[in-house]
Amino acid sequence: MEYKTLNNGIQMPMIGLGVYNVAQRETQRVVEEAIEAGYQSIDTASMYDNEKEVGQAVRACGIPRSELFVTTKICDSCYTREQTLHSVDQSMRKLGLDYVDLMLIHWPVGNPAVMWQTLEELYQQGLFRAIGVSNFYPNTFSLIVEEARVMPMVNQCEAHVLYQQRKMIAYLKPYNVALEAWSPLAEGRREVLKNLTLSSIGAKYGKSAAQVALRFLVQSDIVIIPKTTHAERMKENIELFDFRLSDEDMEAIRRLDKGHNITGWPSDALTYSV
Ligand SMILES: NC(=O)c1ccc[n+]([C@@H]2O[C@H](COP(=O)([O-])OP(=O)(O)OC[C@H]3O[C@@H](n4cnc5c(N)ncnc54)[C@H](OP(=O)(O)O)[C@@H]3O)[C@@H](O)[C@H]2O)c1
Repeated sequence: MEYKTLNNGIQMPMIGLGVYNVAQRETQRVVEEAIEAGYQSIDTASMYDNEKEVGQAVRACGIPRSELFVTTKICDSCYTREQTLHSVDQSMRKLGLDYVDLMLIHWPVGNPAVMWQTLEELYQQGLFRAIGVSNFYPNTFSLIVEEARVMPMVNQCEAHVLYQQRKMIAYLKPYNVALEAWSPLAEGRREVLKNLTLSSIGAKYGKSAAQVALRFLVQSDIVIIPKTTHAERMKENIELFDFRLSDEDMEAIRRLDKGHNITGWPSDALTYSV
């Protein structure tokens, strides 16, 4: 496993398992299989409605809690400190864990500055090892950093070979904020999994198009959280650290960038009203 050192010194695994759209009845099995396959990091959210099952897996898996990295996200539109505390409390109860490794604000809704101040307070009390945001583009990220006592450690955004987030990478660099890619396989689209550039590069290394797409992100210093419920794909997606793409390969993959989001979720194209 390789790790990203966050701006507060915490080590975050470069790959985690995302559990969006994993049904409650499957989540404990899926998370335990992922941990068995070598995953140390799990990405959930209050919106995914499976925090309870993630927590059950983390407690039952037999790996010390200190060796695992659990991320969750507040997705409520909180306008006050009390609402934010309530939302965090709900997540902590469902997870049944003493602390969360990374707590994110899921979207820039509600009052992000107030939500951030509340997360800063809880971070300083030790409830979270790191805090960050998700889906914050410059118009909303600036609302946080103007007042921040604690700089976000992570911004989790859509990123994959078709939307490489070069502007965001350049924007975050001076703040030393890590970019974490959601939908790193572009939701499993054929355009990625059957892409000829990716599969021909993969053939040189004995790797699949999916592995090349994920390796491209990791090699670009982007943390990834691919989702799968299949044990063989979990294994495939984590086997990224025994090969290195050449400069020419990286350049060829850079040319796949469309420069805009493709999942339909809000992105930099959307101006949030906060
Ligand atoms: N912060 C946010 O707003 C936000 C938004 C979206 C997602 N996320 C996070 O990012 C995680 C990943 O994003 P995502 O689930 O949207 O998309 P993704 O990880 O890009 O793709 C997942 C899809 O690809 C398939 N897949 C996975 N590995 C594969 C492989 N090796 N070969 C072929 N198909 C494969 C999966 O199918 P199977 O499951 O059937 O294998 C699933 O349909 C989420 O689970 C969530 O944790 C966050």
